[in-house]
Amino acid sequence: MQVGLVGWRGMVGSVLMQRMREENDFAHITPVFFSTSSAGKPAPDIGKGTSTLIDANDIAALKRCETIITCQGGDYTKEVYPKLRAAGWEGYWIDAASAKRMDDDSVIILDPINAHVIDAARAKGIKNFIGANCTVSVMLMGLHGLFKADLVEWVSTMTYQAASGGGAAHMRELIAQMGVLNHAAGELMMNPAASALEIDKRVTDALHSDRFPKEHFGFPLAASLLPWIDSDLGNGTSREEKKSMDEANKILGYAPKRVPVDGLCVRAGVMRCHSHGATIKLKKAVPVEEVQKLLTAANPWAKVVANNKPDSLAQLTPAAITGTLNIGVGRIRTLHMGPEYLSAFICGDQLLWGAAEPLRRMLRILLGK
Ligand code: HSE
Repeated sequence: MQVGLVGWRGMVGSVLMQRMREENDFAHITPVFFSTSSAGKPAPDIGKGTSTLIDANDIAALKRCETIITCQGGDYTKEVYPKLRAAGWEGYWIDAASAKRMDDDSVIILDPINAHVIDAARAKGIKNFIGANCTVSVMLMGLHGLFKADLVEWVSTMTYQAASGGGAAHMRELIAQMGVLNHAAGELMMNPAASALEIDKRVTDALHSDRFPKEHFGFPLAASLLPWIDSDLGNGTSREEKKSMDEANKILGYAPKRVPVDGLCVRAGVMRCHSHGATIKLKKAVPVEEVQKLLTAANPWAKVVANNKPDSLAQLTPAAITGTLNIGVGRIRTLHMGPEYLSAFICGDQLLWGAAEPLRRMLRILLGK
């Protein structure tokens, strides 16, 4: 299969390439590398000889690909996708961007959860397979067992989202902010007798300074939080929050039935793992041990962490989970609100299950391998 790759150099694209190499995906395809900026330059060497980058706006060249995988972003999708289809292209479009997610001619892909929805869509001739919002994917992978058992009446998720959700420049900016704060505290950090209040004063002055690096986030994230992600829909909801409800239901194939999924999305000073503090209203009371069994059995990546302090702190953190395909699910207990109310803390790498992994797995599904 001739597979066009667009946007393979960005944050999600780089992780996708890394995963495709690790899983030997390139052995099963003939890759064609496209670029919006460097056409004619050498394409990456994936062990299949040299080739050059092709202009990612060259519709005739794109048309020769049976499948196109793009991590280039929504603007590219909106610009190029309609032209390709208008030119008569009938290939498979696998896309990380949100632009086409909610369209009727697309299916949102998270195959451990919705292989049945993907299969049904393919049987109907649907050829657009779109990766979900990362926050939604991580949450569904973690709570899969409860949805699979049709136990969820509603779920409220309060998120702690990583800098990587904004892209590579945001990750760098978080570290730059941390560095500036450490520098501001200066020699006080060397002096065990220095008061925390003095250090805090210097940190606060740095956070409030016009020179603080915040070009990408707009505000300090290090030593702070950002309680708004993506655009303001004008009704008190952020676009990120709206996606939770819409995409989770579409992934689960629930329409016209809908399970309310809602909560506040917050950016935290984390590199690449998104976490959720979830409150789940079950349709009936289920003992915690049973919940743990359902979550563990639902898919191989959901890892239940025992609800105790040492295990939670050692296994259920972004620092522990980053760079792995594991989705940690812990802090599971029945809440005082009643026997049907559960808490859970979910943590997963937003660049893996949240972005790159479902794309390469969709390619494998198309290849039948
Ligand atoms: N919108 C997400 C975030 C990343 O900003 O964390 C993309 O799904």
